[in-house]
Amino acid sequence: METVYLDRNENNYGPSPKCLEVLKSATPDLFYMYSTDYKNGYKSALSNRLATEFSITEDRVLLGYGAEDLLKQVVQTYLNRKKKKLLIPDHSWWYYKEIANEVKGKSVEYPIVEGKDSYQYDIDKLMEIYNESNPEVVFLASPNNPTGNSISDEQLTYVLDRMTKSIVVLDEAYWFSNGNEKTTELVNKYSNLIIIRTFSKLYALAGIRIGYALVGSGLKRIKKLSNRYLGYNRLSEKVAIAAMDSFEYYNDISKKMAADRELYFTELSKVENIKVFKSDANFVLVKIPKESISSLKELFVGKGLVIKFMNEEIVNSHLRISLGTQEQNRRVIDAITEFYKTYNS
Ligand SMILES: Cc1ncc(COP(=O)(O)O)c(C=O)c1O
Repeated sequence: METVYLDRNENNYGPSPKCLEVLKSATPDLFYMYSTDYKNGYKSALSNRLATEFSITEDRVLLGYGAEDLLKQVVQTYLNRKKKKLLIPDHSWWYYKEIANEVKGKSVEYPIVEGKDSYQYDIDKLMEIYNESNPEVVFLASPNNPTGNSISDEQLTYVLDRMTKSIVVLDEAYWFSNGNEKTTELVNKYSNLIIIRTFSKLYALAGIRIGYALVGSGLKRIKKLSNRYLGYNRLSEKVAIAAMDSFEYYNDISKKMAADRELYFTELSKVENIKVFKSDANFVLVKIPKESISSLKELFVGKGLVIKFMNEEIVNSHLRISLGTQEQNRRVIDAITEFYKTYNS
């Protein structure tokens, strides 16, 4: 039985065929020679391409070994071992706290609150904690992991207008829509803003480890510290560009994912005793009775389906299920439905 991994928010639809073509036509120089892109006046053909897509200058596009690396770069640049504060969501990717700890920074949490059928940002509370704590850096995640909710455009401008004394990072690893105008507008308007995205999720390229940051015009230090003088992974750069050239392919996947999320929501909403949350990401969060966790775990192991049983205190009776292919989603939904039919009876 083949194991299906739905626990790390990978994209099981896989990358566009154009990405695989790059590998087939790769020439040896890609492996044995460093990039010479700097001769053209930019870091990399990929940062240059992204700069064109977002209509900003290339020096404001940073590349990293996934969004993971860029988040760490920001924290290492601005938190700086002086017990400075990083403001993060209380429900968030565990990694945020970890990278603050690495530089002896202090994380301060703001709440993401549980609503009727989705989680939400509580902007008043966020601003209250912001004003009290005076953080060096603020992380906003949209959509947020593991809650799946986004910050609305209005909420985002409201907080950005007021967080002028900090570096604000918008982690958009889980953005799944096309259209760059809004992003460009934001990063041009707010000189203290950093928007971070990745090729791992929408583009199904987690294994090539490429993420990028678009930085506000005031952020000189990170631009300098982020420089890699011998260039970037040349093969990954080409694969990422091929993904950007595959608009139709990813547009189709993004539509399928919207339908997948909807299916999870409607089907699991019918199951008594559990609560499924609306999500804008490629995963859904489900709250289940604590007492059912160990037998549900056993059932999933038996079926060769790996999902994430959350263990952080704040979400410890929750499952986070990454969207799979339509067939895989059906298997998970059926397994949960059947399980609770018996459990509830
Ligand atoms: C919220 C969030 N941001 C960023 C990342 C990093 O992704 P990557 O390093 O693959 O770009 C993840 C990974 O799961 C994530 O959950």
